[in-house]
Order: sequence, then structure tokens, then C-alpha cells
Amino acid sequence: MTTGFPGTMDFTGFNAPSRVECDVFDLEIDGTLPEEINGSWYRLTPDAQFPPLDRNDTLISGDGMISRFRFNDGHVDFRSRYVMTERLKDDRAARRSLHGRYRNPFTDDPSVRGHRRGAANTTPVWHGGRLLCLKEDSRAMEVDPHTLETVGEWNYGGRLKSQTMTAHPRLDVETGELYFFGYEAGGLATRDVAFCVADRNGELVREEWFQVPYVALMHDFLVTKEHVIFPVFPTTADLARIQAGGAHWVWEPDKGTFIGIMPRAGSVNDMRWFRGEARMSFHCMNGFSDGSKVHMDHCVSGVNVFPFIQQASGIHVLPHESFGGLVRWTFDLSRPGEEYEEVILGPPGDMPRIADRDHMRNCAIAYYERFDPANGPPLLAGPVGAGFNTVSRIELGPGKLRDYHQPGATFEEAIHVPSRQPGHEGYLVLAAELHGENLSEVLVLQAERPDSGPLCRVKLPLRLRPQVHGNWVPAVVTA
Ligand SMILES: [Fe+2]
Repeated sequence: MTTGFPGTMDFTGFNAPSRVECDVFDLEIDGTLPEEINGSWYRLTPDAQFPPLDRNDTLISGDGMISRFRFNDGHVDFRSRYVMTERLKDDRAARRSLHGRYRNPFTDDPSVRGHRRGAANTTPVWHGGRLLCLKEDSRAMEVDPHTLETVGEWNYGGRLKSQTMTAHPRLDVETGELYFFGYEAGGLATRDVAFCVADRNGELVREEWFQVPYVALMHDFLVTKEHVIFPVFPTTADLARIQAGGAHWVWEPDKGTFIGIMPRAGSVNDMRWFRGEARMSFHCMNGFSDGSKVHMDHCVSGVNVFPFIQQASGIHVLPHESFGGLVRWTFDLSRPGEEYEEVILGPPGDMPRIADRDHMRNCAIAYYERFDPANGPPLLAGPVGAGFNTVSRIELGPGKLRDYHQPGATFEEAIHVPSRQPGHEGYLVLAAELHGENLSEVLVLQAERPDSGPLCRVKLPLRLRPQVHGNWVPAVVTA
């Protein structure tokens, strides 16, 4: 019998576990779904199967639930399944959670010591004919793209040496190569980072290791046509603290920010480090090289905004109290020194996305989600408290915003779906939490005019737990 999920922010309201594995055929649609939207939108959600051992656990510890919205000729079908990790299999066998603090195996039940504890709950990525479920503390889990049944851990045919793989690999759409990295690659709280490339067929063709200045939460990175950018922000890990049962992550601003840049055609031995004041950034939007200059566009804040990391660090700064924004950092490789320049591109927000074709070049348009107090009071959804209440399209340069919001709703990451029509900017597809109804729906917006409202709403007869990331896979790819 499962009872007693904590009454904390991470396990109540829209953050309450859903635990629903289901199929819903031919969802109800209000409005008109463009028939050219034909493919699968895969999403990953942390969704705890059992109440956590640690009553103060974060929802991002939750077991990975992969879901698929299958768009086909104006219809949408829904499927959700747990990713059957070793962690979840162990817990199900015991009918309770055997796992302790976030990324701290020393707090686990002794019966699972030495077992894999990755939750595969962050990003679904399609590459090399495989659907990979990623979480940065472990290797990928492969899932069947049609049935969503778990295939097993994917370690590139036994060739991948890194023990971890980022949830934010970067695809070069022209070469088909998948660039990725793993941090804590050599084990818990090690400074080892593995830089890896898989070719368009999904074969691992490159793995080089280097050490970062300190052990840091390295959630994302960037690849341009000529460079690779490794951001190191001061959310830090310490093995002795973890072994003593403490938090994996604390915020240590005194360590400052390091940004490593290497030539893509070179090696990790060519890494050049730039340094700046302490900042936190989870998500990079895009990067591009222009002569000697390397540009990095990302969503930055003054502190780590995750409450469970703040609590472990003895600080309490609400997201809207921390300065931040969508920024461009520019590194001039022709100049000596460790400094870089910052330009503000837009107001604070997160989950930035651009059209796939625009990656690695100086693009004009981006999309991201924001919490704008002008669009309503904070509503609980997601791991930092207030969910996003605004979907924004931004013209990079002028900074002009076109926003969509609706009363009583919060929004998850919008993905961009391209159009086949010439001059058409495509569509934004995202999940919304309807707080008044305790239900979720999917919105389809015109990417060029989100402010004109949804083309359609795909209604769900259930509440989806807030997702982390999703990706679009055209129907022809998985057929
Ligand atoms: Fe992420």
C-alpha cells in the first residue's frame, strides 16, 4: 500500500505525483489542428512511483515517465509509460522507495548499494535510430519509440567510458552529429568531464576527458560550427559532504564562473578558460562563432533558484528577487585575458528554444517561458515554486516580445515544430496546467504570433505532472 507523499511544495498541487501509465486514443480537440503537424512529441517528467525516503526530497528525483503525443492528420493520441530503470525496478520489488537524498547513494537503503540509481527523467532525444531518455547523473536509457517500452541502458555498444551523459546534447543538423558531454564522468563528485561525439548513425566516434576547475552542476553546454563551450557555474559538489549524508549540491559564489572554450576541430588540450562573477544558468539557447568572437546566448540568474539547493546553502532568494535575464556573453579569442562581455537580450525566463535549423548561427527569433507578475500571481507548478505564466517569442536584437498568457494557467517548455509552407515560422506546442480545473491541456500556437492565441487546444482527461524537457520527431523519421 502506497501512502504518505510529503505535503511539501514538491509533492502537492500540480507537483503531486501522477503515476499514470495510460493510452488515450484520439484526444478531444477544440479548434483546428493543422494537418501538416505530423509526428511525435516526446516528453519526460519526473513522477515519483513511491513516497521518497527523504521527506524533503525534490521532485526532480522522481522516476522518469516518458510520454508521447502522436500527431497524425489532425488527430492526437497520447501514451505514457515509466522508464524501467534499475532504480524503479528495485523500488517496485520492495514496493517502497529505497533511495535517499538527491544524488547521494550513501543515504540509500543498503539493499541497493552499488546499483544504478539514475532516474532517466529529464530529456528524450532521438538520434541514430534510438530514443534516449537522459538524466545528467547517469547514462542514457533507451526506449522503444512506438511502444515506449524500455529497451535498457545505452552505452554506445560498450564504448562509452563516461559514467554520465548530459540531458542537453547538441545536434549539428547539417552533419547529423550529436555532441554531448558527461560531468562527474569518472564517478561521484569527480572533476572529470568527458567530451563526446556520436556520428549521424549513432556510433561513438570521439571521447576525450578533461578536468574542470571545480566540481560543478554542468547542466548544459553549447557547440558552434567552430567551437565548443563548457560553462562552469558555482553550484558545487564535495565528496566528503556527500559521504557524510549531506547535500550533493550547494551554492558557492566565491568560486566564481568559469567558461571553457575549445576549437571544435581541436582537442580538450586546447581549452581556454574565461572567468567572471558568480552566476547560475541552467539552459543555453544558442551559440555561434563569428571570426575571433564566440557568442553564448543563455538564461542567467544571480543565484541558483532551486529551493532544495538554496536550503542546503543557507540562503533564501526567490526567483523574482534574483536579477537575471536572457543574455549574450561574447568571448573574443583574439584578445588576451579572462574577461567577457555581456549584453541583455530579454527579460528573465527559462526553457529557451529556437528552430532546429537556426542552431549554431546568428538567428533572429527565439521562444522561451517567463513568470511575469503583470500576467497573474504565482501558481505552484514545477521545482522552483511559481510556474511560468507567459509564453514569449522574442526578436533577438530589438528585444521585441510577443507574449501569450491565460488566466489561471501555467506553461511548460514550448517546442518548435517547423512548417513546410514557405515563409511560415512554424508552430509552438506546449503543455499547460489549468489550475482551476486541475487538468492539463496541450496548446498549439502560431510561432510567429503566440499573442493571437492558440490554433487549438488538445484536451486531456487527466493532470500531467510538470515536465522537464521534450522534443519533436517528425513522423517520417520513426516510421
Ligand atoms: Fe534542462
